Amino acid sequence: MDDDVARILLHREQIQARVRTLAAEIAAGYAHHERGLTIVPILAGSIIFLADLIRELPMKMKIAVVQLSTYPGRSVTAGEPRILMELAGDVRDRHVLIVDDILDTGRTLRHVQEMIRRREPASLQTAVFLRKPGKAPPDLRVDFVGFDIEDLFVVGYGLDFGDLYRNYPHIGVLRAELMP
Ligand code: XMP
Repeated sequence: MDDDVARILLHREQIQARVRTLAAEIAAGYAHHERGLTIVPILAGSIIFLADLIRELPMKMKIAVVQLSTYPGRSVTAGEPRILMELAGDVRDRHVLIVDDILDTGRTLRHVQEMIRRREPASLQTAVFLRKPGKAPPDLRVDFVGFDIEDLFVVGYGLDFGDLYRNYPHIGVLRAELMP
């Protein structure tokens, strides 16, 4: 995989350190919620972030996954996202935290936030590992952000290209000739 990556944007050590501080921010925000949380990870890009983040969170939690359509082999999301796996679990009257890999145009997150709001949670917040500033509409609310990055297509730490590179431990930029 190293040969396919032109440049490493974030090294695994940087990522691990930031996920710990981000978890502390999230834990502080939910300190007074005794019933705990329902985490809603958006599959599959969030899986590595999710696994690292939730092990740093000390409170009780349930996990209710959702999966949205992806566009195999494509480096951009086109059109409206389609739900492939419905929310597994009841979020009514629960404190919900959506966990996603990257906020790009914001279409995916808006879709999931609206779906959850219709189910009347006690509260709704969102954590993303990466954000490309300036791309998502300003009214789309994200409460916790790991890193702001340049507007480049990145892989690793759960993020894929054509379903590959999710296990790459850093966040890297693919070599241009590998992109369509
Ligand atoms: P939107 O545009 O809906 O995008 O905010 C969110 C989803 O699109 C995928 N995405 C990426 N995947 N590298 C990736 O591997 C990227 O740079 C990238 N930008 C968007 C991702 O699945 C994300 O949840």
